[in-house]
Amino acid sequence: MNMAQLFEKKKHGQALSQEEIEYFVAGYTNGSIPDYQASSLLMAIRLMGMTDDETFYLTKAMIESGDVIDLTSIEGFKIDKHSTGGVGDKVTLIVTPIIAALDIPVAKFSGKGLGITGGTIDKLESIRGFKTELSSQEFIDNVNKHKIAVAGQTGNLVPADKKLYALRDVTGTVDSIPLIAASIMSKKIASGADGIVLDVKCGSGAFMKTEEEAQRLAETMTAIGEKLGRKVIAHISDMDNPLGKMIGNKLEVVEAYALLKGQMDETHVDLVDECVVIASLMYQIAAGVDEKTATEAVRGVLADGSAAAKFEEFIVAQGGDMADIFQQETAHQVAIQAKVAGTVETINALLIGEASVGLGAGRVTKESALDYDAGIQLAAKKGDVVAIGDTIAYLYANNAIDVDTIDKVQAAYQIG
Ligand code: URA
Repeated sequence: MNMAQLFEKKKHGQALSQEEIEYFVAGYTNGSIPDYQASSLLMAIRLMGMTDDETFYLTKAMIESGDVIDLTSIEGFKIDKHSTGGVGDKVTLIVTPIIAALDIPVAKFSGKGLGITGGTIDKLESIRGFKTELSSQEFIDNVNKHKIAVAGQTGNLVPADKKLYALRDVTGTVDSIPLIAASIMSKKIASGADGIVLDVKCGSGAFMKTEEEAQRLAETMTAIGEKLGRKVIAHISDMDNPLGKMIGNKLEVVEAYALLKGQMDETHVDLVDECVVIASLMYQIAAGVDEKTATEAVRGVLADGSAAAKFEEFIVAQGGDMADIFQQETAHQVAIQAKVAGTVETINALLIGEASVGLGAGRVTKESALDYDAGIQLAAKKGDVVAIGDTIAYLYANNAIDVDTIDKVQAAYQIG
């Protein structure tokens, strides 16, 4: 067997066998298959797709590429969530402390940013001192003690995805249903949680642009999870507009904490609603309660401050400096003004995502260093009425902000 045979087959739309998929995953993980051959196969998969069986074999081979975490020493039903990726998607930072405050253990492994979408690990690493690399024992101890731990894919957890994820990010092969499904589900299964809530994003700022694609991705992932004995619920949510008002690593931490502290107004309704829905689904699966009970419980820990207190406990438990959350400063700032008067009809999430990468909040190559303080603050949101000259957005970066980035943010605002 060799890689040329595999991409010849896939290029012509033929299904790969389980052995061929195992050969590819094992060879790429151990370094015997080079990046250029792997990216060629990934592109053929991106263009020709995979059958349900191929996707399942790919997921299994990826799980078997490394260790499977044993969470049995943590008492209770362990719940996890995963987003397929969006712009301004800081939901994990908000729902995990909510669920932990409800006494449900949250044992979560998260990823770095991918393409224009941010990653929870990058956001957490923007907090001075925060440790995303935990040993298995530290991780389990933190969940037992604090009911929450969020770590990066360290050690040997799905090493195949670690390499493939980084390669896909820079080779135009992210937006593929089988590749996303296998990437997400291999990590979720290997991380050992009993239940998983999948937040499938749909729209211009998501990998799935249409409702139909999002539905297909949701069904593919749910089927894999159930075949492997997990309780899985998928929720499809809108990603035509960025979520919330902040886009960028540190900026999103600031916004997440503000939401937990109850410092939100009606312009944050999209973010608050989304977090309540996801947290409620997590609580429903984990505690076996109905939607009304779960939603009341979620709103309860937000209102009484226990979710905010749990967030602080979690940040400190993983070495983070809470005071640093309030230190978001950049060498350059630009305010963007409305050029026409009217109502903001939409803020194109794709353009905002691209602009935030341009500012340094996301990666352009595997090696790119992030500017944790860089990002965009949306001063005007969808539905707001603006006059000519009103500031609609602020851009922050430590490197000089180029015209292209400014133009992208201006173009993202459709004011009618
Ligand atoms: N999130 C992941 O973990 N993997 C993907 O491929 C896309 C989003």
